[in-house]
Amino acid sequence: MKIKELKKYFVDSISELYPSEEVQSFFNLLAEKHLEMSRIEIVLNSDTSISEAKITKFNKAIQRLKNFEPIQYIIGETEFYGLPFKVDKNVLIPRPETEELVSWVLESVSVISDIERSRNELSSILDIGTGSGCIPISIASKLPKPNITALDISKKALEVAKQNAKLNKVNINFIEADILNDKAWNLEFKNLEFDVIVSNPPYVRELEKEQMKPNVIDHEPATALFVKDEDPLLFYRKIAIFCQQYLKEKGTLFFEINEYLSNGVCEMLTIEGFKNIEVKKDIFNKNRMVKCNKK
Ligand SMILES: C[S@@+](CC[C@H](N)C(=O)[O-])C[C@H]1O[C@@H](n2cnc3c(N)ncnc32)[C@H](O)[C@@H]1O
Repeated sequence: MKIKELKKYFVDSISELYPSEEVQSFFNLLAEKHLEMSRIEIVLNSDTSISEAKITKFNKAIQRLKNFEPIQYIIGETEFYGLPFKVDKNVLIPRPETEELVSWVLESVSVISDIERSRNELSSILDIGTGSGCIPISIASKLPKPNITALDISKKALEVAKQNAKLNKVNINFIEADILNDKAWNLEFKNLEFDVIVSNPPYVRELEKEQMKPNVIDHEPATALFVKDEDPLLFYRKIAIFCQQYLKEKGTLFFEINEYLSNGVCEMLTIEGFKNIEVKKDIFNKNRMVKCNKK
């Protein structure tokens, strides 16, 4: 089979399930992975024959796409903050709005770093619910001497995050822990205090499932996404309480938030005694991030 025939076969197989630009983009990503060819090379080499083994790989991808599996899981990787990240079904696929959160954290950390450089100290950062490790790894990649810890409840997610730290040549201290289990905090965090704590915790209410696409609901890990309708701020509240002990005085807390729950998050932070509470909109003008300081 020639490349141009493979492309026609691929497009015909899934064109009823996805918009045409998405089908083109899937083909280009798979061609890059399995044929090691760029978009332009595919056009220039459209009469080149391809092996049975490679056709089999495309056939497998077609079956998975018919099952609405995200292309990032099929390819096994994605890009975040300009860096490569391995992803599989055990981790949430990093989202563009989280890149905006990382930029916000980096702005704040560079200010702290200037102060600390003059005191010869390093700012310490904790990421809660790290998943693929996209937040701490992209932050670490931009700091001269990162001092970053990241935790997750999922052992399998942490395995992926560790691979990503290696892939991006950064050093992160990974901890397997349940942030909701306050009795275990002292075991994991004894004598530790952080300048910055950041978290993109689970925040999608069960009632929002109806608006979500099958590629997310059926394939991304439920523990990374969902919280009970009755207590959607559970993680935010627990982390705010955690900060009373483990965030340094005047330290900064950053959250990614559910666009519908910004008022609730800010009220809770006020009750828990945080100051300078600031909500930031993402590029789509939605309230998606909060920053505040410990008194
Ligand atoms: C929304 S995902 C965020 C993943 C990643 N930080 C990102 O931004 O793409 C939430 C993460 O929290 C983790 N998580 C869920 N419950 C947790 C708990 N009780 N303690 C610690 N981590 C938890 C999930 O495994 C998941 O990796």
